Amino acid sequence: MLEGKKIVLCVAGGIAAYKVVEVASKLRQRGAEVHVIMTREAKEFVTELTFREITGQPVASDMFAPVAHFNVEHIALANLADAVLIAPATANVIAKAACGIADDMMTTTLLATRAPIFFAPSMNSNMLTNDVTQENIKKLTARGWHLIEPASGHLACGTSGKGRLPEPMELVETIDEFFSAEKTLVGKNVLVTAAGTREPIDPVRYIGNRSSGRMGYSIAQEAVARGANVTLVSGLSALSVPRGLSEFISVETAAEMRSAVLERFSKADIVIKAAAVADYRAKVVAENKIKKNDDEWTLTLEKNPDILKELGQKKKAGQILVGFAAETQHLLENAKTKLEKKNLDFIVANDVTKPNAGFNTETNLIKILSRDGSIEEFPLMKKRDLAAKILDRVESIMK
Ligand code: C5P
Repeated sequence: MLEGKKIVLCVAGGIAAYKVVEVASKLRQRGAEVHVIMTREAKEFVTELTFREITGQPVASDMFAPVAHFNVEHIALANLADAVLIAPATANVIAKAACGIADDMMTTTLLATRAPIFFAPSMNSNMLTNDVTQENIKKLTARGWHLIEPASGHLACGTSGKGRLPEPMELVETIDEFFSAEKTLVGKNVLVTAAGTREPIDPVRYIGNRSSGRMGYSIAQEAVARGANVTLVSGLSALSVPRGLSEFISVETAAEMRSAVLERFSKADIVIKAAAVADYRAKVVAENKIKKNDDEWTLTLEKNPDILKELGQKKKAGQILVGFAAETQHLLENAKTKLEKKNLDFIVANDVTKPNAGFNTETNLIKILSRDGSIEEFPLMKKRDLAAKILDRVESIMK
């Protein structure tokens, strides 16, 4: 999908700049025309010559250097871009962009362009987790910039943590995916919940379930690919955070999920609740670890709030609400009851007893039940492909 696409690759001054040479090379191999902009600091890490040779294009850097190719270079690059990728996006460039500072070729281009902007923050963990950097990242994603989440692991400063530039192929895939999907959800706010909640019993134990989060994460990814502003509220999951989200909120309990979702509900156009929320929680959470004494032990549970039901009551015209029903028996009847009780637009029913379906698998077997009584059945499919079917259904309702 990158054939003929013009990618402006902004390389800022971080040690990860050396990895971006490979990004440029891979983009070009897939047929993209790559125009590199480097900051002065970036040139301390990699030379202009390297990028020029790899891309076959002149490298832009100095605002006032005589240029051979473009009249007003920063505007020319801003206009020609089909997409802009900033990698590594240093704390400095992120901060400048968040404030609208335009004091070099890169930041000026970022301010002038109307093309979608992807940024891959890469820096020392403390710089990344600093509130000011986090606030700046949020500002940019709120303006529609696509965040490519930093990876965790060894950092050049000798420590280990979050802040690595993802592998070059990941960056290339992100851009490729963006061009692959039709941009049918641009401007739409999509709120997705995923994974299971954990309800504490004491400081070391909890009640949980087998949900991996894969179905919800796939939906979030597909919505990003269709151009939506996506917020993902997730229980604990081993999966990596999808790229390009507007916001990622990690929660533990149903109560935490409820407040995260309610806070954002009024702004959402589409809400898809794929999370496996615990129906009950311990009535009293022990302050200290419970010791084993008697042969039997009774734990008193109380009901958790039903988030989806609450949303169904608050739903306004134009908002689309989708629920999931994971069942082990009477799939269709149970799903139909939930569809009505929770005031949903449709419900995705899956029989979790079937092989390769439901929790903790790559694939799923689903049926979509809608308000008009129709039932759409799908064969065993990859969760990502089912995510596309679910969003197709959402889009057909929106029409
Ligand atoms: O009623 P049941 O829990 O089976 O319904 C499943 C659907 O309701 C899922 O979409 C799930 O995310 C949502 N749910 C919820 N809050 C709960 C329980 C379930 O939002 N407390």
